[in-house]
Order: sequence, then C-alpha cells, then structure tokens
Amino acid sequence: MHFTVNQLEPIGAEIIVEDLDALLGDVDAAEQILDLLDKNGVLVFPQINLDDAQQAAFCRHLGETVKKDQKGWSKEFPEIFTIAMDEGRKAGAYMKGSLAWHFDGPTSDVLPKATILTGRVIPDPTEGHTEFTSTYAAYDRLSDEEKERFANLKVWHSLEVSLRRSEPNPTDEDVTRAQAEPPKLHPLVWTHRSGRKSLVLGNTALSVEGMDEGEGAALLDELMDRATRPEHVYSHTWTVGDMVIWDNRGVIHRAMPYGEDSGREMHRCTLVGDEAIQ
Ligand SMILES: [Fe+2]
Repeated sequence: MHFTVNQLEPIGAEIIVEDLDALLGDVDAAEQILDLLDKNGVLVFPQINLDDAQQAAFCRHLGETVKKDQKGWSKEFPEIFTIAMDEGRKAGAYMKGSLAWHFDGPTSDVLPKATILTGRVIPDPTEGHTEFTSTYAAYDRLSDEEKERFANLKVWHSLEVSLRRSEPNPTDEDVTRAQAEPPKLHPLVWTHRSGRKSLVLGNTALSVEGMDEGEGAALLDELMDRATRPEHVYSHTWTVGDMVIWDNRGVIHRAMPYGEDSGREMHRCTLVGDEAIQ
C-alpha cells in the first residue's frame, strides 16, 4: 500500500493515506504502519476522520488491543476510551496527570506498545496540543560516563505520586483508583529486544532505589529536563479528525493545558505490549 511520508522535526512523520479502505483492510498496510512507527516514534495522520468502528478496526489490525468494561470505555467498541476533562465524566483529576510528561501504563509489567489517539472535538486549536519526545534519543545524548553510571539504576514509579503532583486535593475515588495499581520498580535504562536503549522517565517516577531521596529526585528531574528541551520536542496542533499514533516504549508525551469545560474530546485505543522493561 502506498503512503506519502513527510518527516517531522525533531521526531515523527506525517502519513498521508490515499486509500482509507486499504489502510483499514490490508494486513500489509498494518505491517508498514508498525514499521514506520518503529522508525519514527510518532505518526500523524492529518484529518483522516475515523469513526469509532474504523478506529477500532484499524487498531485490531495493528495488534491486540486493550479492552475494558469500565467508566469512560465504549460499550460498543470496548477498546475505545474517551478522554475528556469535564467533571461530568468524573475523570477530571485522573486526566490531569496527562498534562505532565509520562508514558502510558507506568505500573504494568509490560507497557502498552502503542497508543492511537483521534481528535473528535477540538473547540480551540490553540490549546491542548500533544507533545512528544524520544526517550531513545534522550539515552543516546548521555555522555559515556553517564551511560555507565546509570546502567544498573532502578526507579520507583507510582500512579499515586503522579496523581498528587497534578492534583494536590484529589478525591477519595481518585486516590483509590491510583492506589489500585501498586508502585513498580523499573530500570532507568531499558535495553530493548532490538538492542536499542531508552530512558524510562515520567511523572510517575518517584525515587531511585538505594539513592538518597533528594539526590534521586534531583537526578530524575535533571534527566527529564534534558529529555524535554524544546529542541527535542514535537508538538502536535490538533485539527478535528487527526489521528496520532506513538510508540509508548520509546516516546513520552504530555497534553498541554486546555479549558476543563471546553468540551475537548479525544478517543484513544491502546495496543497490548509484548516486551517487559528490562
Ligand atoms: Fe497518556
């Protein structure tokens, strides 16, 4: 299948699809997309305008999807989760964590492989951008001395920490939800099956095992600062109908702030991962 691929800076690629039916129905197309994702970290499909049925079908083509029967998840297409900030949907504080740099599924043994997000209601395109940076590149930019020093460090990640950082007064429901996932110890440096290495950084990172708490927090802050300098970040300005896919294993992301009552709505699918952080 033929796509037009336009490189984005500093990471990512824009994919122009000429034949939507082929994209949704062609097994080879799925393989090409996964290959492009591996190479580019982020894929942007401008105004491709998928509905839920098409988004679910596309994601199933790419791999096994995460499905849930919970609040916020579609009954008809259980792989689709609606992201909205308004309190009416009762996901307010939980979603605020997405305004800080993070990867999805931070406390799971095996991280989701990729996330597929479509913009459905974008009331104000000047806000709510989604930003991405490569954690492979963040590792590659370390000095040789740092690579050696960080090789065996392990970091505690906690959803409750991320919640309290983004919402100083969380509801009991939000705390219970965050505590349902116990903290997880991940290596700071992930050596992937491919042999590539990335830094495991995010707003859930609390402390470095065996290191003084303040010293560990300072190191994590510094590494995050360096990874997310503006020159290393691609910022996506949303138009209704855009779809963006990112490789959750080698890219961290955040949403820029937007009005909680703006009505902004995104639909998300997540692909089940197949490689533990090690
Ligand atoms: Fe996220």
